[in-house]
Amino acid sequence: MNPTIILLPGDGIGSEVVAAGQEVLEAVADIFDHTFKMETHLVGGAAIDAEGDPLPEETLAACRQADAILLGAVGGPKWDDPTAPVRPEQGLLGLRKGLELFANLRPVKPHAELLSASPLRPDLLPEVDLLVVRELTGGIYFGRPRERRQVNGETQAVDTMAYTESEVRRIAHLAFQLAGERRGKVTSVDKANVLETSRLWRQTVTQVAEEYPQIEFETLLVDAATMHLITRPATFDVMVTTNMFGDILTDEASVLTGSMGNLPSASLGESRNRHGNPRGMYEPIHGSAPDIAGKRIANPIGTILSVAMLLRHSLGLEQEARAVESAVGETLKAGCRTGDLATPGESALNTAEMTKEIVRGMSDE
Ligand code: IPM
Ligand code: MG
Repeated sequence: MNPTIILLPGDGIGSEVVAAGQEVLEAVADIFDHTFKMETHLVGGAAIDAEGDPLPEETLAACRQADAILLGAVGGPKWDDPTAPVRPEQGLLGLRKGLELFANLRPVKPHAELLSASPLRPDLLPEVDLLVVRELTGGIYFGRPRERRQVNGETQAVDTMAYTESEVRRIAHLAFQLAGERRGKVTSVDKANVLETSRLWRQTVTQVAEEYPQIEFETLLVDAATMHLITRPATFDVMVTTNMFGDILTDEASVLTGSMGNLPSASLGESRNRHGNPRGMYEPIHGSAPDIAGKRIANPIGTILSVAMLLRHSLGLEQEARAVESAVGETLKAGCRTGDLATPGESALNTAEMTKEIVRGMSDE
């Protein structure tokens, strides 16, 4: 197989973790006899600095042609001026929208070795295995108007939350289909006691649920969901929710695994690549982490597990995906930890060392 993979390091620790992901892709190519054509392009703050545009036309064009995309992170204090005309995040949102990646899959499954790295009581964690299905191209992230305006002599800011039935229906179908391949339960999260968009969301997801009688279905208000995620995390299978609630819930859910540095994600839509698989974008959920950027100590696991998702979903390489995932598991079992995972007294590996251990784990299999 000789697919084209676009690498978008972006900002902060993005380039450090994407370098780790690239190393793993090279090792996979080597071990399993594939040729991966990898091309690096600009996005986010790096693209603003170079071209004044967080999503240069040629980056989007390259992604449209690619078989899959691996992204690091965007954003940082350098571009945080609230009055700036362009922001790094627009690059990421532009990619999601431009590639119509309406579904963001964020699996949360703590490794047995890391239970003590989580702030939660370890007895709550062993059975946790959930998948957040976040709607990614609608809701308050994209609604119009979004503006500042003058009202009664002062500045008012407005964002708009909007959902159409068809947007809700397509993400709901995906959630039920995924639940059918897992433990058969869907929890839909909304704020239907207050928001009109949430009432439409709940009504539509409930209708879709009727087409999947074999799947257990429940709805939860988002405030209760944040609580249940830490009081009874093991009871969830697939959680389906809106763009903003999904953003918030997945940062919370990530600490069940010990660190948000562990969490991968896949963004998928209807578009298919040359291999007939979804042309997906894969990224760790952790963001650019300006506090540790440049120190080369970032945890590469979120990116490396994103590489596994890329191999599985966009390239159809299940065996290769499993090899990456089991190498991560074995490396953790062997006691290797990055700084975010090390408990007091444990020594920490840097990004390159951790990646080397994982690559070695793959070659040993
Ligand atoms: C995420 C991030 C992004 C989001 C930011 C960087 C725009 O937090 O992928 O979770 O809010 O979607
Ligand atoms: Mg986020």
